Amino acid sequence: MAGGQHRSEHHLAEPAPNDQEFAYLLRVAATAPDHGNLRPWRLTLVRDEGRAALERCFADECAEAELRHGEPGESAQRAPLLATLVFSPQRNDTGRGTPVPEWEQLAAASAMASSLVLLLHARGFGSIWRTGRFTESERIRNVLGLHQEERLLGWLYIGTPQRLTPSKRRVTEDVTDRISVFAP
Ligand SMILES: Cc1cc2nc3c(=O)[nH]c(=O)nc-3n(C[C@H](O)[C@H](O)[C@H](O)COP(=O)(O)O)c2cc1C
Repeated sequence: MAGGQHRSEHHLAEPAPNDQEFAYLLRVAATAPDHGNLRPWRLTLVRDEGRAALERCFADECAEAELRHGEPGESAQRAPLLATLVFSPQRNDTGRGTPVPEWEQLAAASAMASSLVLLLHARGFGSIWRTGRFTESERIRNVLGLHQEERLLGWLYIGTPQRLTPSKRRVTEDVTDRISVFAP
């Protein structure tokens, strides 16, 4: 990472941050913008046997999807640590003030995840945020213990980058077309 830039890493191996280091980085990531400080998210870390079990679920889902669409499979073995991103909208209708709507809470969860990715990279770890096609799967929701009102936002695949070729510095693109100046 250079100058706040981010580059996803597709080939990730050991080491990944341990639980303590992950908790520390998450503590910092939790300072991302969050209206009402509701922390409308939680993460389930998947390592070792958990990864093998999730891999079996992915395989079961893939087998069905392959039959249906002929699509290739997804793998939980892509990285030593998968941080499951769960959106947990918080009821916050206290009767005092306007409640924070769900879309703002989703934005807060996204901001936290994005900060976490940058922090991981600053610490020398690599990651990639992937959804695959499992975020709506009942089987995977159940195995990971999601509540009905929660939403699976995918996984941060985390580890140490295994670069076959030196990482290319990202060429930033001109996005000035996304900026306008209010001219009343
Ligand atoms: C919510 C979300 C879901 C994503 N899901 C996938 C995915 O399933 N597979 C994938 O290859 N990239 C996915 N991406 C994109 C990658 O995280 C990343 O942005 C992309 O690989 C570009 O990498 P770069 O940072 O090197 O430009 C997703 C991104 C977001 C924000």
